Amino acid sequence: MQTLESNIDGKPWIQGAEYLSRNPAQLDDVVATVKLAGPDAVKAAAESARRAQKEWAAVPAPVRGQFVAALGRLVEANADTLARLVTREIGKPLAEARGEVQEIVDTCDFFLGEGRRLYGHTVPSEMPDKQLFTFRVPVGVAGVITAGNFPVAVPSWYIVPALLCGNAVVWKPAEYAAASAKAFAELIWHAGLPAGVLNLVFADGQATFDGLEASLGAGLVDKVGFTGSSAVGTKIGELCGRHLQSPCLELGGKNPMVVTEDADLDLAVEGALFSGFGTAGQRCTSLGTVIVHESVHEEFFGRFCEALRGAKRGQPDQDVLFGPLLDEKFAASFEGYLEWISSHHRVSGSIGRVTADNPPPRDFAGSYDNGLFYHPVIVDGVRPDDRLFLEETFGPIVGVTLYRTLDEAIELANLPGYGLSSSIYTTNPTSAFRYRQGISAGMVSVNNSTSGAEAHLPFGGNGKSGNGSRQSGIWVLDQFTRWQSMNWDFSGKLQKAQMDVATVTPDPGFRL
Ligand code: UN1
Repeated sequence: MQTLESNIDGKPWIQGAEYLSRNPAQLDDVVATVKLAGPDAVKAAAESARRAQKEWAAVPAPVRGQFVAALGRLVEANADTLARLVTREIGKPLAEARGEVQEIVDTCDFFLGEGRRLYGHTVPSEMPDKQLFTFRVPVGVAGVITAGNFPVAVPSWYIVPALLCGNAVVWKPAEYAAASAKAFAELIWHAGLPAGVLNLVFADGQATFDGLEASLGAGLVDKVGFTGSSAVGTKIGELCGRHLQSPCLELGGKNPMVVTEDADLDLAVEGALFSGFGTAGQRCTSLGTVIVHESVHEEFFGRFCEALRGAKRGQPDQDVLFGPLLDEKFAASFEGYLEWISSHHRVSGSIGRVTADNPPPRDFAGSYDNGLFYHPVIVDGVRPDDRLFLEETFGPIVGVTLYRTLDEAIELANLPGYGLSSSIYTTNPTSAFRYRQGISAGMVSVNNSTSGAEAHLPFGGNGKSGNGSRQSGIWVLDQFTRWQSMNWDFSGKLQKAQMDVATVTPDPGFRL
């Protein structure tokens, strides 16, 4: 078992209270002892990043691209070890963990070429002998705070483009995913990044917030990236706002799936099963509520329950759809959501923690007695004023309700006020386009699940899901660079914009 310390400017930061990161599928398996540092470590990390950033920004962007290329290859070469560590530390099924590692490789493969682009523009001037330009300039120091459900892929969405653009980074991963984070950080450092350009800090929420506040106050952080709950995102947004900063916020979701009367129901059930219960429902893109046309509602509910009964679950290193919850904290909140089930609901089967008295199906893979395993639940009859309908329920629980007209379905889909991901199953293109127009989500799937976005499309949400910032692809460049414009007058005289501009003389009365 390893002891993990923060790493600031290439050196360990040894002070800190001990936290045990456990395997949620076998709680007696301690993956790492983590030293949780205080706010001073966050500030020291920001100072280190500030010191290192200018030199890193001076490295030509194509050479920074070489670092990104090397990182992609190093992650590929270590993919199996990293995926197994992710599975062991957060209980994500191995196939999904391998997919998560692939998402880092995809991100690197996309951004390695961006080092040779990072295009600015040449823009015509309104006056002769004058040229206008735009340049992308790195923001400076990025503070990145990430959740543990995607302990390496989602951090890579911030860290890879931030570094490529010439920023230095302070990364504060979730403590319950610290070993996975440390492994990814090691790969980044070994891909050729100078010390101090990436600093890793293990800290709890309060210490992180206090350290971030101090760092922002001292002018040491120029951009915050945060993936986590809407509640914490709101606090981070407020803090950044006080320092005139707009953070990149990737928050929760109550992701709807509309199933129309003409949908391919088998396909819809398959999509609902994967997005509702894959990763044990613990993606920000996981399915929240299925909104089914009244004419197919009963049929859908029956088939969905049957598919769930047939889904393999158990130890995540085996071939299962899902394993345990991520960590004790998530198990406790999931138990809270289960209390929102009430008498007007109809549920799919057993509810609650899997125990000898509340046993799993016979084909449960491996042991359950020492892990955070819960029965998955489908709750039919959720109403628009139910907490189950309105609030994010991170975990293996999916609501079902019915609708009559597509306008009503869209209204229901938007009602919770999130706006991350959404999906529609339909064979009617008009319904698909109407849905896209009406839905408030940043991401829309047609005949596909709410989860599983590809790594090079804009990722992000609106409403309670974020502040409109987008990650991934070319769109994230606007998070990690700022536009600088330049004008260059070579006329040898002062030409005043708007005032010394030639005019054309039209003949507005002319008619054919
Ligand atoms: C998250 O849960 O924060 O689209 C990210 C998906 C994954 C990423 C989820 N590629 O489901």
